[in-house]
Order: sequence, then structure tokens, then C-alpha cells
Amino acid sequence: RIAGPSSLVIFGVTGDLARKKLIPAVYDLANRGLLPPSFSLVGFGRRPWSHEDFAAQVLESVKAYARTDFNEGVWKQLAQGIRFVEGGFDSDEAFEKLKATLEDLDEQRGTRGNHAFYLSVPPKSFEQVCQQLSKHGLAKTSQGKWRRVVIEKPFGHDLASARELNNVVESVFPADSVFRIDHYLGKETVQNILALRFANQLFEPIWNANYVDHVQITMAEDIGIGGRAGYYDGVGAARDVIQNHLLQLLALTAMEEPISFNADHLRAEKEKVLAAVRLPEDLSRSSARGQYTGGWQGGEKVTGFLDEEGFNPESKTETFAAIRLDINTRRWAGVPFYLRAGKRLGRRVTEIAVVFKRSPNLLFRPHNGDDFGQNAVVIRVQPDEGATIRFGSKVPGTQMEVRDVSMDFGYGHSFTESSPEAYERLILDVLLGEPPLFPRHQEVELSWKIVDPFEEYWASLDTQPEPYAPGSWGPDSANELLAQDGRTWRRP
Ligand code: BG6
Repeated sequence: RIAGPSSLVIFGVTGDLARKKLIPAVYDLANRGLLPPSFSLVGFGRRPWSHEDFAAQVLESVKAYARTDFNEGVWKQLAQGIRFVEGGFDSDEAFEKLKATLEDLDEQRGTRGNHAFYLSVPPKSFEQVCQQLSKHGLAKTSQGKWRRVVIEKPFGHDLASARELNNVVESVFPADSVFRIDHYLGKETVQNILALRFANQLFEPIWNANYVDHVQITMAEDIGIGGRAGYYDGVGAARDVIQNHLLQLLALTAMEEPISFNADHLRAEKEKVLAAVRLPEDLSRSSARGQYTGGWQGGEKVTGFLDEEGFNPESKTETFAAIRLDINTRRWAGVPFYLRAGKRLGRRVTEIAVVFKRSPNLLFRPHNGDDFGQNAVVIRVQPDEGATIRFGSKVPGTQMEVRDVSMDFGYGHSFTESSPEAYERLILDVLLGEPPLFPRHQEVELSWKIVDPFEEYWASLDTQPEPYAPGSWGPDSANELLAQDGRTWRRP
């Protein structure tokens, strides 16, 4: 799977995402031999940069953030195809210059009119950039030359704005040329959910309401908002990561087996399960929100959310959210899915825990009074990528006492191959024109239909989210959410 002749244009090339993720991913792909010699990288932005200035910036990000070792030969080859176009999104002149630059690359380097446009820009600029690309004849595919557009979340702020955004983008680019990036889908461990479930006979027979008690999906981060106040205020944990990353994890965990991994089949199954999600009747009992306070975390003094620089000190934006969802299908009826995500929690960990019902008859005594016997399959998305099975085992000794133990699979132990970074995989798939890992607009809209009612309910409360201490596991109300159902959150 090596990309064909093509160029990648990045809008918003001076932003953090481009600097820390996109540019290093391009270099890593080149270094792994997955880009053709003709591949070209074009930056578009307001800085008064020459091609050489931009190449120097690219080199800086490669040296700081690339995952593969630096290789002078690979860099020289890549650097020959680096160009910069100066201008604003409103400048017709700049878009004409971009067109001329791409045509030059087609001629000089043989990129053959195949161009991907990566919009690493705030969503409010999507429309303008798409219109400009269309106006200057850059969006239209012709005679085997492809044009693709890549957009990053957030895909809107709610269902209505997501629809509007989808209409705008798809009025310029045909649906199969739009690549929506949810970088979780680029993670090896996320793709492995499908392998674990469908490449084995062990899990699928018990992956249903007959055996599963509930599912917990956790995305915990130890970092705070830091310099992202401008983006985060008014967004919050539910819109930032539940609407996309966590609902994608839910869809992959709960979906039926697709008839193939072809994009339409895979996405249709994910959409089916998202469409079957049933919202709780009483949202007050089925959700929790929190905001981290200042304090100590891991021996370091950290600033509270409301005191973060550039922040509205009265912000009601949540930095932690937990919700309960049900899925109205034969497979999942009666099995709650609990989702939680937060900043400044105990540690950075993303995992899916499928927790099984207890054995109907327990002959054994617990060891030291410990609870045991609630088996679980835990998929560790990050860090310590892998999976764990928890089950009870006899404690050595003269008594018939049982304690829970773990059976572990870790990528580091089982594979010598290194995992590509999510953005490497996704950028390669864009250049190859392979869409399975990119949600289509129906999926995005279904996810907003799930998140919007929680957002509306929280907004109607007009209260401050519950404070929680940095380094904790969120507000008390998150524990109550499970306690009222007689359950507890796993401590990852
Ligand atoms: C992004 C969110 O989508 O994902 C960030 O906007 C979050 O708030 C980030 O920090 C986490 O990504 P990862 O890959 O580090 O889990």
C-alpha cells in the first residue's frame, strides 16, 4: 500500500495540529517508503514565507515530533517537493497562486493532478476554503485526476450546525471525496477492536445481553486545557470527545459483523448501532458533569479550569462528562453503556471494559473477603496498548478460595512491528482514497442526535458543573451514576 503520485495541501499549516502531528506524519510515511518520489507538500498561510522558509519549519517539526529516525536522504527527497503559498482564505490571488503551484508540481514532479486539501483550520473557515477551491477550479475531479478534502473535528457544534457544514462541504466535493478525520479511528488499538471481535471465536458468542452486564468506556486525560481555552470554552468534554471518539468506540464495540470491511458495509453497521442508541428518560439520573479545580497533581501545582489563562471565569463548560446510554437491539437490550471522559484525571488512559454477569451459582468463597467473579474483557486503547481478561482463579492453599486474576496481551510483548501514528495511517488512506476509517456525514449526524439532548439538558440547568480535584476520577455524581444501578467504575 504505497500512495500514488499526489500532493497534499495543508491549510492552517502554522497551527499546532499541523506542526505536531500532520507534518511529522508525512515525514514518517516518506521514511517508511510509503510515499512516491513525486509526493509534494504545499503549505498555505498568511506568513510571508518563501518555499525555503516553509521547508525550514517543516524540518523543525520533523526533528521535534517525527517518530521514525531522521534520514537525510529521505528528507532531501521530500524537501524537493515542498512549496509555500502565502495568502488569506479570502484572497483570490492566493488561490490562483495555489492553482499555478499545483500545476507546476504536476509538470515538474509528476503529481498528475491528484490533490488532497487538508483543512486544519477552525470550522468557521471550512465554507470559505471550500468555496475558494471550487471557484478556482481546484475541487473538480477530471480525467482520472482526483481531488479530496480532509476535514478535522469538530464537525459542527450540534446537529443543526453539523448538517449545515455537511451541506456546505458536500456541495463542493462529492461525498466520496470528503474525508472526515476522527483520529481515534487511526489508532491501531481501535482498529483491533474489530479483529478481536470478528477474527476470533472466543468472544463473539458471549458478546451480548445474555452474558454482558454492562460496558464502560473511559477516556481519561491527565492534562488540563492549557493553551486551548479559546477552543474549549463552550465546547466541553461531551462535544470535544464523546460525540466523536467515544461514540466511535461504542459503535465498534457494539456493532454487528459487517459483511466485509469495505467502507459502505463497515460504516452502515456503525450507523445502525448509533441509530439504535436509546437515550435515558431521566437525563438528570443518567449524566454527570464536572469542572476541575486547582490543586496538586502528581507533585505539581496545577491551575483550576476557571483560572486557566484566557478563560471566562464564569464558564459553565464541563471538563468531565459521564453519560449512560442503552442500545435498542436484541444483542444489547438491557445492557447499559457508561461513557466517561475528562481532563486532569488520575492518569491518562483510554479503555473499553466489557463487564460480564456473575456466574449464576457461586460455590467458592472470596479470598480475604475480596469481590470476585465479575469477568471482564478490557481493551486498552492507550497507553500500554493491549487487552486484558479478568477472571477468578483458585488462590493456592488448602482452602477453595477464589480471587480475580488477569491474562494480559500487550503490543510490546506480542509484536515486533511498531504501530504507526494515527495520523500516518489516516493521511496514507486519504492519498490512497480508502474511506473505511472516515465517518460519513450520516454517522456524524447520528452522533449529534445522541449528544444534543444531554447538552440541552445541561444548558437548561444553568448551573456550574460539579467541581472535582485534579488527579481524582471526576465528580461524585459520576460515581452515583453507576452506584444507583448497583455498579462501580473500574479503576483503570
Ligand atoms: C482531541 C481532543 O480530539 O483528542 C483533545 O480535542 C484531546 O481535547 C485529544 O486531548 C486526545 O487525543 P489522544 O490521541 O491523545 O487520546
